[in-house]
Amino acid sequence: MDSVTLRKLYLNFFKERGHAVISGASLIPENDPTVLFTTAGMHPLVPYLSGEKHPQGKRLTDVQKCVRTGDIDEVGDATHCTFFEMLGNWSLGDYSKKEAISWSYEFLTQVLLIDPSRLAVSVFAGDETAPRDDEAASIWEKCGISKDRIFFLPRKNNWWGPAGQTGPCGTDTEMFIDTGKPKCSEDCSPACDCGKYIEIWNDVFMQYDKQADGSFRPLAQKNVDTGMGLERTLTILNGYKSVYETDLLRGAIGKLEELAGKKYGEDEEVTKAMRIIADHIRTATMLLGDQRGVTPSNVDQGYVLRRLIRRAVRFGRLIGLKEGALSEIAKLYIEQYKDIYPEIGENAEKIVSELDKEVERFSSVLQQGLKEFEKVVGYLPENVKRLSGKTAFKLYDTYGFPIEMTVELAKEIGYEVDVEGYKKAFEEHQQKSHAGAEQRFKGGLQDNTVEVTRLHTATHLMNAALRTIVDENIRQKGSNITAERLRFDFNLDRPLTQEEIRKIEEYVNGAIDAKVDVVCREMTVPEAKAMGAIGVFDSKYGEKVKVYSIGDYSTEICGGPHAANTGELGKFRIVKEQSSSAGVRRIKAVLENK
Ligand code: ALA
Repeated sequence: MDSVTLRKLYLNFFKERGHAVISGASLIPENDPTVLFTTAGMHPLVPYLSGEKHPQGKRLTDVQKCVRTGDIDEVGDATHCTFFEMLGNWSLGDYSKKEAISWSYEFLTQVLLIDPSRLAVSVFAGDETAPRDDEAASIWEKCGISKDRIFFLPRKNNWWGPAGQTGPCGTDTEMFIDTGKPKCSEDCSPACDCGKYIEIWNDVFMQYDKQADGSFRPLAQKNVDTGMGLERTLTILNGYKSVYETDLLRGAIGKLEELAGKKYGEDEEVTKAMRIIADHIRTATMLLGDQRGVTPSNVDQGYVLRRLIRRAVRFGRLIGLKEGALSEIAKLYIEQYKDIYPEIGENAEKIVSELDKEVERFSSVLQQGLKEFEKVVGYLPENVKRLSGKTAFKLYDTYGFPIEMTVELAKEIGYEVDVEGYKKAFEEHQQKSHAGAEQRFKGGLQDNTVEVTRLHTATHLMNAALRTIVDENIRQKGSNITAERLRFDFNLDRPLTQEEIRKIEEYVNGAIDAKVDVVCREMTVPEAKAMGAIGVFDSKYGEKVKVYSIGDYSTEICGGPHAANTGELGKFRIVKEQSSSAGVRRIKAVLENK
């Protein structure tokens, strides 16, 4: 089975069961300061899992692009990818365990034709927060899973979420393929990573809202959130040894064989390098071509993108790739994905040119950097197997080696790196720390406090002010809101003048003083466009979107939530206006008490 068929079968199955097929969202979460990337299908749906009404109803299904970089070191093995697609279905306070589990079973056995004797499932064993899930177990049994294939596992295995530190979460039941390998021990279970059991799907019963203090409150509604990994499931269904044999990745591997003049699968090192390149360039293509696309930089998403590309360059060198090879791989992915993700086709030129630029930037210094690395290692006394923070910083600052690359290079020859010392050297040079950005993975998911909601409404007003006062071609390039301030990136190739800043503040404060209601309407994208709405038009199936209007001031497609009336906002003040990257300016602004 190929990816096109599996996506279609999944969406149709749930459509037939009353689910609206919705468009997946951008890889860059909107207005969410706490995470860099969309990591699961539920991620863009957090407001709706928390009780907001979704325009398409209470049963949804989609395919979501996801990026997870936590396992980047594992890439090169059979199953880990930094980009993957998640098939998902959701009940927003509608159906519960019985339907979710029965449909999962039906899809696996009747549609994908997996023999029930190859399935195993795990359910929550119970603890002080939630009881043992006998209900889920008994539903599985009724479906046809024998008792000895139902495993009760603890929180570590059978609790999912929140995606960050706070937000929707709950117990889950996971589905595994039993590969038929013998048990590795008496206790071998799906909790074990010996390779006997491979997880393909997860049904989460999201009923809790984890608080910042670590406690759990019941959510306003009981939800179901499921996620099936497209790449993995295809691998299993086709009996492949790794995800690189699926139609999603094997094209790139074939092209790499051709470009490098080497055979995949013959040599362990070459195989691993090809897998890493195929994975990283796919993720880079998806990030560069995303509807909220990013470009390589030293902070946030741009830094992760830079890391991926530079790592691919390094592994490319190992297998003897020539100049321009990586963009050949990107072009292959563009062709492969443009029908599924139109933004990839639309941004094809940008993808290739930005990738080429970054490859060129790094290729010119990589060779020298590697020499420097070897030189430093050579100077170290025999018994010192540790590179100083200062060296790591020099490799970063002069040769563009992301710290993670230096750590990896060191590890390959049995050395360590003083990462703390590196961070210190970094901060001493007063550069923006990407360490902070990485730490945001640990942060909470969407923060819907009153402060954030108000700043979100202020962001819409400011966006409108910029277009009205400065240039009607201004578009949002990024937004990040914490309880303290808003941060907004937009395209402009010069600084704002003091006069413009004053006028923008005046515009926003005028709207606040006018005490205008913020009105949310649901409509199709053409209807929203006809109203002059701005925003990211994510919908591809003609489904309804939410449009927030603030009187005549602003009309924007947006998931919300927002303040009910601008009168709640306080006094708006711009505290900083600076350059963010080439052609992009960044504003930080606050709302002060009146
Ligand atoms: N959100 C769940 C997961 O990512 C379904 O596994």
